[in-house]
Amino acid sequence: MKLSSRAKSVSPSLTLAITAKAKKMKESGIDVVGFGSGEPDFDTPDNIKAAAIKAIQQGFTKYTAESGTDELKKAICEKFKKDNNLSYSPSQVVVSCGAKHSLYNIIQAVCEKGDEVIIPAPYWLSYPEMAILAEAKPVFIQTDDSSGFRISVSDLKKAITKRTKALIINSPSNPTGAIYSREQLREIGDIASQKGILIISDEIYEKIIFDANSHVSIASLGEDIFKNTVVVNGVSKSFAMTGWRIGYLAAPDAELITAIKNIQSHSTSNPASISQMAALEGLRNPGPAIEEMRSAFEKRRNYMAERINKIKGLSCLKPEGAFYIFCRIAKKGLSSMELTDRLLDEVKVAVVPGKVFGSDRHIRLSFATSMENIKKGVDRIEEWFNKNQ
Ligand SMILES: Cc1ncc(COP(=O)(O)O)c(C=O)c1O
Repeated sequence: MKLSSRAKSVSPSLTLAITAKAKKMKESGIDVVGFGSGEPDFDTPDNIKAAAIKAIQQGFTKYTAESGTDELKKAICEKFKKDNNLSYSPSQVVVSCGAKHSLYNIIQAVCEKGDEVIIPAPYWLSYPEMAILAEAKPVFIQTDDSSGFRISVSDLKKAITKRTKALIINSPSNPTGAIYSREQLREIGDIASQKGILIISDEIYEKIIFDANSHVSIASLGEDIFKNTVVVNGVSKSFAMTGWRIGYLAAPDAELITAIKNIQSHSTSNPASISQMAALEGLRNPGPAIEEMRSAFEKRRNYMAERINKIKGLSCLKPEGAFYIFCRIAKKGLSSMELTDRLLDEVKVAVVPGKVFGSDRHIRLSFATSMENIKKGVDRIEEWFNKNQ
C-alpha cells in the first residue's frame, strides 16, 4: 500500500515502544517498576461510575448532538465560571473524545500548509505531530531548568514570524510540571493577541497543583486575550477518567467553533453518550476525590524529588503541578535514550526519555504510581548511578 505523505510525516511513538518492551518484560515475570505512566493510578470515583451505569440502564445509549449534550455543555460553562472566571455560553463549547481530540480539532480548523505553530519545549509529544498532520510547521522555543522551563517574552517575540498562526501554552506542563504566573501569562497573552496569534491553552492538569501555586487561565486576563484564546480542558486527569475519553474546548469565536463542530461531525461525531453522563456527574458533584488525589500526588512528589536530588548524576526541579518529574542528566555524553534503555535492561525501571519531549538531557518519571513502587524504583535508579559514575 502506498501511504499518504501525511501518514508518513508522523513520527512513530517512542514511548509506545518503551512501554511495549516494559510490558513484555513484566509478562515474562520480570519485576519492572514503571515510571512511564501518563494517567492517574487512582480509580474513577464511585459516583461517576454510578452515573454511567444509570445512563446505560436508562437507555441513554444513542447518538447525542455531535458537540456534546446541552446539559454537559452547561455544566462545563459553570465550571469555567467557578474555577476560571470565564464566561462562555454552551454554544461556545465543544465536547470531544478527550482533550487530545479537542487539540487535534483546533489545529485542523486553523492551520494549513506553511503556517507555524509556536510550541514551548519541552512539550507534550503530540503537539508537534498534530501541527505536522495539518501541514503546519512546529516552531520550538527551547527552555531548560534555568528558567524553570518557562519561555520569556523576548524568546516569544523572536519566534514570531508572519506565518505564526498559533501558540500552545500548557500550564501546568507535561512533562516539566512548570506553572506560569498570572503576570507571565498576561505578557504572553498581550503579545499573542496584538499579533493576532491564536492562543491554545491546554489546562488539562489544572487540578493537580502543589504548595501555594495556583492555576490561572490565560483567557481570564483581559478582553482581548479572551477573544483570542481557545481553552482546552477535560476530565481525564482531574477525575481519573482517562479511558472514558471526554475533553472539551471553549472559545468566543463563533466561526472557529462552527469549523470545529463540522470537522468533528464528519470524523467521530459525538463522544460516547455514557461517558458524557459520567463527566457531567464529575463536574456537578466532584466530591472529595480531586483533593484526595492531589494531596497523594503531592506527598509522592515531595519524596521522589528529594530522593532524586540526592542521586549523584541526576537532579530535578520540584514540579509545581501535574504528576511528572523531569530529571536532568548530569553525566556528559549519556543521552536520554541510552539512559532509558540501560535503566530498563540493567535495573528494571521504565522511564520516558526526554528526547520525545524535546530535551535529550532529561528523563521523565511519572509519580502516578504507589509510594511503594516509587521507593523501589528510586532505590534502583540510585543503585545504577552509584555503579555508573
Ligand atoms: C498536556 C496534555 N494535554 C492533553 C492530554 C490529553 O488528555 P486526554 O485526551 O486524555 O483528555 C494529555 C494526556 O496525556 C496531556 O498530557
